[in-house]
Amino acid sequence: MPDDNKPVALIGAIQFNLVKRGTAVATEQTLVIIKPDGLVKSLTGNILSRLSETKLIIIGAKIVRVTEALAKEHYKHLSDKPFFGELVEYIMGDVHNTHRVMALIYQGDGAISKVREIVGDTNPEKANPVSIRGAYGRITTTGVFENVVHASSSAEDAEHEIKLWFKPSEIVGDIYPTKDVVREKVHEKDWA
Ligand code: TYD
Repeated sequence: MPDDNKPVALIGAIQFNLVKRGTAVATEQTLVIIKPDGLVKSLTGNILSRLSETKLIIIGAKIVRVTEALAKEHYKHLSDKPFFGELVEYIMGDVHNTHRVMALIYQGDGAISKVREIVGDTNPEKANPVSIRGAYGRITTTGVFENVVHASSSAEDAEHEIKLWFKPSEIVGDIYPTKDVVREKVHEKDWA
């Protein structure tokens, strides 16, 4: 039987607390997009299973038809790159003839780095072979990385991307400040 009064047990407890304090990480949200190549290759279930290893929770999920405006805003930071046009066509689904992506928000401690680690390096040939991009991504003949998934790379990017892709009402929980707006004459479809 272990003796709780032994000094060694106390030292163990103190070390445990220090380790816990030293590794404290913030609760974060991150945007994940399963890109058109991920959907046409039937990788959705596989990707969701891999991401469930993180023990993060999903607080938003939907299938999106990506407009040109959304694609260009999402990849705005690459608008001066020669591959920008092809990148926009790729995320819109023109290349894979599907016009759908799946957008998800994951939440939890260290969410951004945990998801990025499973997703892998931007370049599928440099990515860890067991990461999602390393296992399933490819580089096209024109040099565009078809890397299956997007994952936010910083807290700043995550906030910008989540606000771009989701409305507050599509997310479970209040993650960013909201305001009440009254919209008149909004036309939208309802079930007939
Ligand atoms: P980027 O935002 O730099 O990387 P990440 O998606 O890992 O956050 O790039 C966005 C996408 O642009 C990337 O997923 C694939 C594509 N891309 C290329 O096709 N070639 C490149 O040289 C780079 C940097 C990105």
